Amino acid sequence: MGIIIKSATEIAAMRQAGEVVASTLTKLSQEIKAGMTTLQLDDIAVRELKKYGARASFKGYNGYPASLCVSIDDEIVHGIPGERVIREGELVSLDFGAVLNGFQGDAAITVGVGKISPKAQKLIAVTRESLDAGISAARAGAHLSDISAAVQHYVESKGFSIVREYCGHGIGRQMHEDPSIPNFGPRGQGPILRKGMTLALEPMVNIGGWKTRVKRDHWTVVTADGSLSAHFEKTIAITEGEAEVLTDWKL
Ligand code: MF3
Ligand code: CO
Repeated sequence: MGIIIKSATEIAAMRQAGEVVASTLTKLSQEIKAGMTTLQLDDIAVRELKKYGARASFKGYNGYPASLCVSIDDEIVHGIPGERVIREGELVSLDFGAVLNGFQGDAAITVGVGKISPKAQKLIAVTRESLDAGISAARAGAHLSDISAAVQHYVESKGFSIVREYCGHGIGRQMHEDPSIPNFGPRGQGPILRKGMTLALEPMVNIGGWKTRVKRDHWTVVTADGSLSAHFEKTIAITEGEAEVLTDWKL
């Protein structure tokens, strides 16, 4: 299919969809507390969508049953909200997508609930910084894999591992467009980035090894070795200068 270049008007629409995603994740980060169920977080997200007249991207996607993904501790991505109660000390990743006026926004954050271990704090910081490293590499004229190499290098320099079996992606009218964006690999490969490309970068970082496993619910992805995992994601637009962040959540 190839990578779809968006016009300034289309990017303006993506900015609006992105704003819904960013403000919802920001709100969730403020409201999350020990004792809540993961389904209560999904309820908050749905309420925010209604406020903006937006629709959930994930609900019904390949049969996914909820609007939000909530992945706790060794869960990497795609945790399904339900009756699980969030506990003090847990690491909670929230992944959320919204559609507004035909355009998608997709982003994720990881937050610690109450007091978390220094190791977990470090994992959150490194994962977030690895996303920043990827965004810095996402410039017109660079190769796609310069993003991948920047993320991998940052994560591994801090002694953690980058998940290899799940990737970032192009985004626009569809949640998943070309190209697939691995978070590892040598630089200087793949397509050249151009102004108007819109991408969702999403490093997933584990304290232990990079291997993953899917739970019996057929959705929840966990670390194979049971180690903690964190996930941050932003939708960005390639410009002539620094990439523009379209889902600028505030933590
Ligand atoms: N942010 C995830 C992604 O980019 C969300 C997909 S979850 C699903 O793939 F439920 F929609 F599959
Ligand atoms: Co995504």
